[in-house]
Amino acid sequence: MKTTPFKTALGVAACLATGSAFASVASQALSHAVHAGAKIFNTDTFGSHERSFHGQRTTCATCHINGGRTAGRLPNGKTIPSLVNAAAIFPRYNPHVHKVITLETQIRMCVRNGLLGHPPAYGSRTMADLVSYLGSLGHGQSVDIGGPPR
Ligand code: HEC
Repeated sequence: MKTTPFKTALGVAACLATGSAFASVASQALSHAVHAGAKIFNTDTFGSHERSFHGQRTTCATCHINGGRTAGRLPNGKTIPSLVNAAAIFPRYNPHVHKVITLETQIRMCVRNGLLGHPPAYGSRTMADLVSYLGSLGHGQSVDIGGPPR
């Protein structure tokens, strides 16, 4: 069938309309994931009964203070970098495990070794929410895989 300019125009209009509806659903879903990730970061203990130096249950925020936006502090007082560019510097080589790891693997290592909890599964909703939250902290930064944490 020969496409008339009218049909083409209709098709483009329909496509644009669907496109913008999709964009708004997508941005709502992403914003929801970022907020859910922030909540998990600040409150989830991942089944751990470990208490931090403040006597509170350990969460990501125990070490990565201020939501990861500023330098963190370990229970032993040692300062660690913030998470502001974490999403931009993975994958990276981890000298403790002698291999390249993804952001998801880093999160699982922090849950297992930092919180002494049960790590969220790869591909799980919790993992997607946490990665979305960390991505929101690094929004606008250039990808710099293997780069230094800030
Ligand atoms: C007991 C303290 C502690 C807790 C709790 C903790 N972390 Fe970490 N986290 C660390 C340390 C220490 C490092 C640095 C690791 C290294 O030097 O390889 C780190 C590194 C990271 C990094 C990589 C930062 C970078 O830019 O290299 C991410 C991302 C991260 N943590 C996310 C999380 C998330 C998400 C949680 C909660 C599920 C969490 N951490 C819980 C101690 C902790």
